[in-house]
Amino acid sequence: AVTADATEGEKIFQQSCIGCHAADANDTRPPAARLAPNLANFGDREMVAGIAENTEANVKKWLKDPESMKPGNLMTGKYGELSDDEINALTAYLESLKIAK
Ligand code: HEC
Repeated sequence: AVTADATEGEKIFQQSCIGCHAADANDTRPPAARLAPNLANFGDREMVAGIAENTEANVKKWLKDPESMKPGNLMTGKYGELSDDEINALTAYLESLKIAK
């Protein structure tokens, strides 16, 4: 179910994350613009960044400090610092992203 938090998270995503990521099953980005994974099915995934189990806690940790989980990744430092509220909203949004079967 999409909660109010997830709606807020989508807004933040559209402002802060869309420059690198997509969240669209029909990824229309040209190949050169695909700087980061399409997150359209993130809620169905087993892993976060291929290194940690996809749990709410790990998604929050990744958004707070990706460097601590995966040194040298290309996301660290590329968006402003997120408040706890923003992280909670983004996490609710990301976990709601599922491709209907
Ligand atoms: C400068 C480009 C960039 C920006 C801006 C960015 N990301 Fe990322 N993100 C990446 C890259 C690159 C990866 C893949 C990292 C890896 O696995 O090494 C990634 C990985 C992720 C993952 C894990 C994806 C997976 O396949 O498991 C999540 C979740 C994520 N980003 C969320 C966000 C959110 C939310 C924002 C906005 C607050 C954001 N990203 C902003 C580049 C970016």
